[in-house]
Amino acid sequence: MIVEVSGVTKRFGERVAVDELTLNVPQGVCFGLLGPNGAGKTTTLRMIYGVTLPTSGQVRVFGMEVSPNVRAVRQRLGVTLQQNVLIESLSPRANLAIFGRYHLLDGAGLARRVEELIDFMELRSHADLPVAKLSGGYQRRLAVALSLMNRPELLILDEPTTGLDPAVRLALWSRVRDLRHEGATVLLTTHYMDEAQRLCDTVAIMSAGDIVAQGAPEELIERYLARHAVELDATPEQEYALLRALGDSPPRYRSGNRSMIYLDDPAPLLERIRLGAGGDGRAVTVRPTHLEDVFLTLTGTRLEDHP
Ligand SMILES: Nc1ncnc2c1ncn2[C@@H]1O[C@H](COP(=O)(O)OP(=O)(O)O)[C@@H](O)[C@H]1O
Ligand SMILES: [Mg+2]
Repeated sequence: MIVEVSGVTKRFGERVAVDELTLNVPQGVCFGLLGPNGAGKTTTLRMIYGVTLPTSGQVRVFGMEVSPNVRAVRQRLGVTLQQNVLIESLSPRANLAIFGRYHLLDGAGLARRVEELIDFMELRSHADLPVAKLSGGYQRRLAVALSLMNRPELLILDEPTTGLDPAVRLALWSRVRDLRHEGATVLLTTHYMDEAQRLCDTVAIMSAGDIVAQGAPEELIERYLARHAVELDATPEQEYALLRALGDSPPRYRSGNRSMIYLDDPAPLLERIRLGAGGDGRAVTVRPTHLEDVFLTLTGTRLEDHP
C-alpha cells in the first residue's frame, strides 16, 4: 500500500473533521475521494502529506509513519492544493526554476526539467508571461507542473479541476492518465462525478468525516443500484402504483416529482408505463446509471446543494 490511513480521527476543538477513517491506496491506481464540502477530504489529504497531525490513529505513506518522516515522505510525493500557490509576478518558467532549486536541481539538469514540464503541461505559449496575466486554466496547469518537479511516486490533487472549463479539464485528465501509465499513484478529490467515473479506478464517497462506500465506479453502480436508470414524472402515489403493478421493489431516488428507478432490465417497467399503470409516459427517459446516482441514493444530497 502506498497510503494507509488506519482509524484516524481529526478534531478541531469540538468539531470532528475526520471520524475513525480507514483508507488504503494501493500502488499505481487513481484513487478518488468524493464528498460534499465539509466531508473531510482536504483534512484527510493534509494528514497524508504531513501538514496536519491526526488527533488519533495512524497515517503511513510509502510504508513510513508520516509525522516522524515528513521530509522523507515529501521528497517522494507531489501536491497540488485546492488554492494555487504561485508567485504571480513571475512567469511560469521562473516559478518552475525556483521550485526546482528547492528540490536541489541546478544547472543543465534544472533547465532540462523545467522545459520537460513546460512541454508536458502544454505551457510553452505562456511560459514567459507573468502568472497574474494567465487564465485560471493556465495557472492550474502550472500548479500541477510544479507538483511534478520531483517526479513524485504519489501525486495528491485537491479538486484539480474545480472551476475550469471543459477543455482544460479534459487536458488535465489526459495528463493524469499519462502519469498513471508511467507508474505514479494518484490520489485526488473532486466534485465532478463524471470526472471520478472516467478517471478513477477506485472511489471512496466521504460524508461527515468517514467513508460511506468504496469501490470501482462500475462496482458501486452494480452493488447499490443497477445498470439502467428509468426517469419519469410521477407522484409518490403514481410511483407506488407502478411498482406494485410491476411486483418489484427496485432501488430508486426521488427529486420533487421526478422519480428515478434503477433496473438491470428496464423493459417490464417501460411496458407497464406504456400500459398506463401510473406515471406520465410522455416524460420517460432511460439512461445508463451514473456514479452520481449512487452518491444521491447513499447520501440523499446533491453535491451542488452544498455551500
Ligand atoms: N483548521 C481548521 N480549523 C477548524 N475547523 C476546520 C479546519 N479545517 C477544516 N475544518 C473543518 O473540518 C471539516 C472538514 O473540512 P475539510 O477537510 O476542508 O472538508 P472538504 O475538503 O471535504 O470540504 C469542516 O467542517 C471544516 O469546517
Ligand atoms: Mg476541500
